[in-house]
Amino acid sequence: MDVAAYDLLSTAVLLLDAEGRIEYVNTAAEELFGVSHRHLAGQNAANLLGDDDGLQSRFMDAVHGKFGVLRQPLKVRRGDGMVPVSVALVPLRNEAWAALMEVRVVEHHALLDRHQQLGKEVAAQRETLRNLAHEVKNPLGGIRAAAQLLEGELAEAGLREYTTVIIAEADRLAHLVDRLIAPQGDSLHKTPLNIHEVCERVRMLVGPEFSSIRITRDYDASLPEFLGDFPRLLQAVLNIARNAAQAMTENPAQQDPHLIFRTRVARQVLLCDQPASLAVVLSIIDNGPGVPPEILDKVFHPLVTGRAEGTGLGLSLAQEFVLQHGGVLECDSRPGRTEFRMILPLELR
Ligand SMILES: Nc1ncnc2c1ncn2[C@@H]1O[C@H](COP(=O)(O)OP(=O)(O)OP(=O)(O)O)[C@@H](O)[C@H]1O
Ligand SMILES: [Mg+2]
Repeated sequence: MDVAAYDLLSTAVLLLDAEGRIEYVNTAAEELFGVSHRHLAGQNAANLLGDDDGLQSRFMDAVHGKFGVLRQPLKVRRGDGMVPVSVALVPLRNEAWAALMEVRVVEHHALLDRHQQLGKEVAAQRETLRNLAHEVKNPLGGIRAAAQLLEGELAEAGLREYTTVIIAEADRLAHLVDRLIAPQGDSLHKTPLNIHEVCERVRMLVGPEFSSIRITRDYDASLPEFLGDFPRLLQAVLNIARNAAQAMTENPAQQDPHLIFRTRVARQVLLCDQPASLAVVLSIIDNGPGVPPEILDKVFHPLVTGRAEGTGLGLSLAQEFVLQHGGVLECDSRPGRTEFRMILPLELR
């Protein structure tokens, strides 16, 4: 390959000799390191990666082909800051150069780390809440039963108002407690399914409930079937779509409420810890008022709600179900456009 072709790439590429010295850099590499080709040529490439001794020796081993490919997350100096990058070093055989080094800026990884971090936080919170809910459940049952007995004993009808309140409130709390306990991290029951079946079911549930909303389907018909837990994915998508519908219908200034289900295939994505060669991206987009800014960064956390009637469990449950499938759930929101994106690795049959 003519080295000039490397200049067309947006990834930084450096070609090294057997001593690990830089012989060629492409334009993207000049931009990344903020210096010219002439400045970099002849330098030891390992010097670009900071002065970790272990890394330097591994680097030379990699140049000499001891590993297939060395991949390493690192920071490189650019201007006056450090930029996180991912470096891949590929030893070359029967070529004019000993190794090819590829350096990518990793905003994408950083984003995913954040996702993972958030996912873990939410999982930990849910666990705490679940334990708490278990603690509440038993005494609550006792309170309700005692109130019922008391109700039977009360001669005066006027006093029964109080026991009725106790029973009704105990029931309300029991309902919340049940919702908190619900998913319990049971193992998934996976069957072959098509994501469009899930969307269609949600559309049939949400459509009649919110008849003023226009619903558009933008499906990628080429999406293959994959293995997933249908009831959980249904619940996740339903929670997201119902939120969107509620936000639009409860917004006094809303015009032409519109909900879009969009599906796409994505290739070579990194999800949580795992790279997936194929994934489905389901976007649920609405033109409502947007997630209130004060809760946007914690919208997936349990008990976070922006609605008077909300319990704040819908999205945390949706996220839990998506994580159980090895996927991620993301949200972009501003007034007039909110998108929840569910990215699921495709585990083919
Ligand atoms: N599409 C959306 N547009 C605007 N706000 C949203 C949207 N989706 C979620 N939200 C906001 O995020 C909050 C949290 O949603 P979540 O589903 O977790 O709880 P909830 O809807 O309040 O209660 P629950 O789902 O448990 O009945 C909502 O209360 C709402 O303020
Ligand atoms: Mg909800």
